[in-house]
Amino acid sequence: MRTIDLIQKKRDGGRLTREEIAQLIAGFVREEIPDYQMSALLMAIYLRGMDREETLDLTEAMARSGRRLKFDVDGFVADKHSSGGVGDKVSLVLVPLIASAGLFIGKLSGRGLGHTGGTIDKLESIPGFCAALPLAEFKRQVAEVGAAIAESSSEIAPADHKLYALRDATATVSSLPLIASSIMSKKLAIDSDGLVLDVKVGRGALMETEERAEELARLMVDLGQRAGRKTAALITAMDQPLGRMVGNALELREALSALEDQGPQDLEELTLELGAELLLMAGQAHTRDEGKTKLRQKLRDGSALAKLQELVARQGGDPRALEDPELLPQARGRLEVKARQPGYIKELDALAIGEAAHLLGAGRTAKGQALDHAVGIELLKKVGDHVALGEPVALVHYNSEERLALAKSKVEAAFTVGAEPPAPEALIRKRIA
Ligand code: URA
Repeated sequence: MRTIDLIQKKRDGGRLTREEIAQLIAGFVREEIPDYQMSALLMAIYLRGMDREETLDLTEAMARSGRRLKFDVDGFVADKHSSGGVGDKVSLVLVPLIASAGLFIGKLSGRGLGHTGGTIDKLESIPGFCAALPLAEFKRQVAEVGAAIAESSSEIAPADHKLYALRDATATVSSLPLIASSIMSKKLAIDSDGLVLDVKVGRGALMETEERAEELARLMVDLGQRAGRKTAALITAMDQPLGRMVGNALELREALSALEDQGPQDLEELTLELGAELLLMAGQAHTRDEGKTKLRQKLRDGSALAKLQELVARQGGDPRALEDPELLPQARGRLEVKARQPGYIKELDALAIGEAAHLLGAGRTAKGQALDHAVGIELLKKVGDHVALGEPVALVHYNSEERLALAKSKVEAAFTVGAEPPAPEALIRKRIA
């Protein structure tokens, strides 16, 4: 069938067959189908949707569009994905933690996107750290160290790289079948035995309502399971940032504290829950509690931190920076943001904090731009905490007065104070498996 006929079919509410989807994706990657036709098709999918079969066929066609990776290891290979949030440094803790418990994990990660941070940018706060690993070296490191974290490669699911760029420019990002196929195609192109997904919901997340987050989570779990992967998802709150640090080197420091079993409670809770899911899948724990106890032990006895040190050293990073975080980039200036009224913190807007960190220079405004690893926001108070009038609620780490001026009002506005303490809200909203 001609491309124009397939666009018309989807535009009119028809369903595309497996062969038609395969033809479209292969033609697009070979540059036989021009961007304008693919953009029209994306809009038709955005408006008409796709059923489960179509979404699975799309995901598999995208996963097949580039190299497939298989690890040469004798053990359970785990993988993890987060739909992105503010202060989300879970991968920095979880990857070495589960590797220290005997699982293997080769994690391809992204850079910051919009107001959300990226694992690779955080790791690049470490002097010398190299995230651009050739796939052969990535595989070797997973076999020899048990864990590697590298930047997503355009060799893996290249169809997604091309489609994502078009979606970004055609207002077709927020379509569930397109998001699910984008995320899962990259995961399915890399072999793993079990995958845990952290689908965030709230002000600072891609999904703002619990219904949409659950729909996305169910769709991705279904895609993973139909493709033969053990897959589970947690729906987790992203109304306020995770942990207390937002910004690249600041988040790395907080991850190091968590690896020394001194991290903030929410970061530890989420990391242990996600890790316990993987231990259950691997048969290394019979219950979630047993899994969490095992992992907590790895934080306490130093083996998780030692695994991160091994990973960083292998990827060219200066391991001294992990022992002495003073060697990590530090901002020249610090400014306290103070409470403008007494009471309890009712809300702490993750989106506003993410945007403020971005304004300080922690994120990019153009592709490939250098960012400032040192800047960010340290949250001294979080939802439920009591504050007195004028008490500091946040510390802004900055390198430029102009940027500070832009960010400061956003940080101030991110805090809502009320007379009564807010009802506590669960961090982990739902588990889908
Ligand atoms: N992350 C992805 O990789 N793809 C999407 O479409 C959205 C978030």
